[in-house]
Amino acid sequence: MGHSHITIHNKAFRPYLSAAQLDEAVTGLAARLSADYAGRQPLFVVVLTGGFMFASDLLKHFTGLCEIVFIRVASYEGTGSTGVVQEILGLREDVQGRHLIVIEDIVDTGTTMHHLLPTLLAKGPASVEIATLFFKPESLKHEVDLRYVAMEIPNDFVVGYGLDYDGLGRNLPDVYVAV
Ligand code: IMP
Repeated sequence: MGHSHITIHNKAFRPYLSAAQLDEAVTGLAARLSADYAGRQPLFVVVLTGGFMFASDLLKHFTGLCEIVFIRVASYEGTGSTGVVQEILGLREDVQGRHLIVIEDIVDTGTTMHHLLPTLLAKGPASVEIATLFFKPESLKHEVDLRYVAMEIPNDFVVGYGLDYDGLGRNLPDVYVAV
């Protein structure tokens, strides 16, 4: 991996995880998923945009049959007592009775998953689990049941391997951390 710092939008980052380290974690997680979902033909629900590279590598190593869909989530404040309303964009498949696995780049505060899970559960799937590349336990603000975590990381801002800093850095094969 690159040994030098990079600069994105005038912010400095140092090398943090190499492509080889990411590959090892992702491959290990794929093996767990392959064993747990053998014969169940799950539907992987990839959350865009950050999840694209992780999903691609993870699913190459998933053995067995599966379906893959890509979604976006849009959150906005509802009026009055409704609180945060979340809309799932792009999920046209009937998920009733299906085994769903949400693929996310990172669970930080847990807000996104905290709102996405009930929205998915309301559609009547047989099961819903989360597979996330990164989890920052120190940042968590909502209780989220995370069965599949590739790597736990400290509460630092990271870019690369799908994750961006203000739109840039998603294409980097290694992960960098803000200095
Ligand atoms: P949440 O706080 O768990 O809802 O995380 C929401 C989103 O914040 C993630 O899906 C990422 O897009 C973004 N995010 C959180 N931490 C980082 C980071 O360290 N780098 C890049 N994006 C992040």
